[in-house]
Amino acid sequence: MQLVRYSYTSRATGPLDANDLLQLRVSAARWNDLHGVTGLLVFDGLRFVQLVEGASEPMARLVDRIVADRRHHQIQVVEHGDAARRQFKGWALRTCWREEWPGELFLAAVKQAVAHCSDAAVQALFIGFGCVPG
Ligand SMILES: Cc1cc2nc3c(=O)[nH]c(=O)nc-3n(C[C@H](O)[C@H](O)[C@H](O)COP(=O)(O)O)c2cc1C
Repeated sequence: MQLVRYSYTSRATGPLDANDLLQLRVSAARWNDLHGVTGLLVFDGLRFVQLVEGASEPMARLVDRIVADRRHHQIQVVEHGDAARRQFKGWALRTCWREEWPGELFLAAVKQAVAHCSDAAVQALFIGFGCVPG
């Protein structure tokens, strides 16, 4: 299987409360699970950073779904292309929201979420994002 990886940052178009985030997490994880996609989504209250990875056909559909979603905008693609191995094996969608991890716990939670990644660039993307003050 050709593995494709897509990562980006974006900004929320409006406020998202705990319920909105729960809905997003549940429906996205369900779709990813059904389509063999894995990944991590981090939200700091204003901005998202996400990496998703999977077979090329479901990934093409997923990128379209994500880009069309009006809950966020200003998508800046970090990487979109072939990848050698998964970074979030076993996680249909791991999530990390700042509101669940106040203060310095947020950065610690982000570090924990990427601790097992074999690709240092992926770790740097998420940890760099986690370092930006909320
Ligand atoms: C920041 C962000 C990340 C998302 N990540 C995923 C994802 O990993 N998998 C997924 O299936 N949907 C994800 N979505 C949600 C889809 O974009 C959205 O729920 C879907 O396009 C709705 O389509 P449908 O209700 O017509 O099926 C994400 C949305 C946002 C705003």
